[in-house]
Amino acid sequence: MAIDLAVIPVAGLGTRLLPATKSQPKEMLPVGRRPVVQYVVEELANSGVKRMLFITGYGKSSIEDFFDVNHQLINNLRSTGKEEQLAELAFERNEVEYAYTRQREQLGLGHAVLISEPFVGRQPFVVALGDSIIGMNAQSRIVERMIEEYERNNADVVVAFEELSDPAEVVHYGVAQPRGTITGDTFELAGLIEKPAVDEAPSNLAVAARYVFSPSIYDELRQTERGKGGEIQLTDAMQKVLQKGGKGIGIRLAKNEPRFDIGNFESYFQAFVDFALADPQFGDGLERYLRDKLSLNLPT
Ligand code: UTP
Repeated sequence: MAIDLAVIPVAGLGTRLLPATKSQPKEMLPVGRRPVVQYVVEELANSGVKRMLFITGYGKSSIEDFFDVNHQLINNLRSTGKEEQLAELAFERNEVEYAYTRQREQLGLGHAVLISEPFVGRQPFVVALGDSIIGMNAQSRIVERMIEEYERNNADVVVAFEELSDPAEVVHYGVAQPRGTITGDTFELAGLIEKPAVDEAPSNLAVAARYVFSPSIYDELRQTERGKGGEIQLTDAMQKVLQKGGKGIGIRLAKNEPRFDIGNFESYFQAFVDFALADPQFGDGLERYLRDKLSLNLPT
């Protein structure tokens, strides 16, 4: 049976986005018209995922409310004839099962994934970070391709990577160490180096928020000590799986499926502008506004 289960960690504190995230989850920040996590769920559903397990935490209950059916709102929109707005809630009825559990201490992404073990058990599963959108309006099918490669290669770890246009950026990311030379979009993954120095980076391919794992990841996560920042790092556990002979596959995101990281203000602002410019109703007007504004600011 094809993999149809995804774990979506959304429990992080989002400290890099304070004060915006003081009393709301960063995963609920709007990018264009929708909250980040709605794009994540749509992308996964388009790739065949039918069961979504959110790892939430304190102050994150608006995520559960968002995916629930709001009868009062529906009745109000119906009785006032707001059909267009009603259509915006169609996602409430998509055929996906949602489940939620909480990470009670924010001990890192690896810990968040480990919390899913009693619910997932011994089956392969997807991990999709709830603060990253892949592809404009979630059009990416990267997870579908990852599931196919997982099955074709009998893999243990499949990771999506984005090619960094500026190689100096490697210092901020987990970076792929491919086995041999990369010839296509899919390659064998020998290991991962967390935040390498520029001259020690084995590639310019950065981990891009989507993974497929065999249950062996849990065996390593359980034994992973707290690392940088006192957190249990998912990368450390993946590295262990690979070192012990687990099969790793890397897949590059295509040029037309950019990753939008909503974890810091710089990339959040960029993502918002990109999505707003692509808005069918307001995009053209915004573009005129920005052109006008920017040319006014050019030195004369
Ligand atoms: P980040 O690595 O961006 O960490 O999380 P963070 O804690 O949310 O943000 P900062 O660093 O304080 O600004 C990547 C993804 O993993 C989840 C986050 O919710 C986000 O979707 N995460 C992170 C957890 O679920 N639990 C954690 O303990 C850490």
